[in-house]
Amino acid sequence: MTQEAATVARGLEGIYVAETKLCRIDGQKGELVYSGYDIYDLADNSSFEEVAFLLWNQRLPSRAELAELKEALRRERPLSPLNTRLLNEMNGLVRPMRALEIAVTAAGALDRNSSDLSQPALRRQAALLTARMGTVVAAFHRLREGKPIVAPRDDLNHAANFLWMLKGEEPSELEAHIFNVALILHAEHEMNASTFAAIVTASTQSDLYSAIASAIGTLKGPLHGGANDAVFRTLQAIGSEDNIEKYIDEMLASGERMMGFGHRVYKTTDPRAIILERLGHQLAEVSPEAKWFHMSTKLRDYLLQKFEGRPLYPNVDFFSASVYKMLGIPNDLYTPIFAVARIAGWSAHLLEQYADNRLVRPNALYEGADNRPYVPVDERG
Ligand code: ACO
Repeated sequence: MTQEAATVARGLEGIYVAETKLCRIDGQKGELVYSGYDIYDLADNSSFEEVAFLLWNQRLPSRAELAELKEALRRERPLSPLNTRLLNEMNGLVRPMRALEIAVTAAGALDRNSSDLSQPALRRQAALLTARMGTVVAAFHRLREGKPIVAPRDDLNHAANFLWMLKGEEPSELEAHIFNVALILHAEHEMNASTFAAIVTASTQSDLYSAIASAIGTLKGPLHGGANDAVFRTLQAIGSEDNIEKYIDEMLASGERMMGFGHRVYKTTDPRAIILERLGHQLAEVSPEAKWFHMSTKLRDYLLQKFEGRPLYPNVDFFSASVYKMLGIPNDLYTPIFAVARIAGWSAHLLEQYADNRLVRPNALYEGADNRPYVPVDERG
């Protein structure tokens, strides 16, 4: 195609860049489906481990397959000595998303088979990172609090074990259940910015660890996964329910966006936000931090009123902020936790990409100057 005939798809909106068997979203109807299974069904019935298997295999596991995957994840949970050393070195110097990115790169550095892009090797690497990333985030937090790292426990599932390693206390059944569902909800979401970043990296036949590090760097931004942390900071800045209207009116009047609202694909409420709100009601009955959740529901109602007639609705990040707060998780870990869940979907997309790779190399429409004679540096005005 000539440059003259080209048009630029800013933000790649509406452009399909891959075929996938992993996830379907209907942004008008608010539907989210992982390999044929509705997100509501998975949230009600499944576990994060089972969803990871589903994404990696496009089918639910048998009992034996699930047990095998759980065992593989348990084996990979403990930190490597290099991970531990790096986390100690970085303590107080870097923020958690950077620490996670470095830990993933370090895991790649230690994997002598990191450049093996065969499906069995990629599956092993995907399981390793899925198991390890939670341990890294929990250990990062323990160290910065001046507390000893808590070793993973083999008798706990992925969700409960994370909360155990983070707080050094076994979570209640309700807390473990809600965190498990939160992980399921964040596990996969079709071709979002971080998944695309992973795919671009993999398309050069770079390794899975580098692709995941690219994805983590991309998730960090406030227009993507960083929005959950930003939502909590907005709640803090609002302070109390009676300040919502004044704060929001001023914020929107100054042209600022409300994080956790709006979505490139959903033009109705994100089903993940609906599920998180339901879970939030359950947690709010027992949590000393329920104030943030109640404030969120009021804030949502006010924003829907403010945005009436525009396709701006709560997305997944809106309620994850107050739900995580009620689970006793510090707000700067919300985005790392997003990555701890999304590793399942990222790696599933990478399995698809490596199996049928084509270099991602789009074009840019040149709008700069042409035909300029080169002028030596001493002759330039
Ligand atoms: N608050 C206020 N106004 C908004 C918001 C918002 N959160 N989101 C979009 N708008 C407005 C824009 O100002 C724009 O208005 P205009 O047409 O008058 O200029 C219009 O809605 C369209 O916005 P775009 O940025 O063009 O829409 P896009 O599809 O690019 O936006 C995005 C998607 C980036 C998510 C946006 O809604 C946003 O910034 N939301 C806040 C950040 C956020 O919550 N991100 C998390 C998304 S979910 C996830 O990644 C896990």
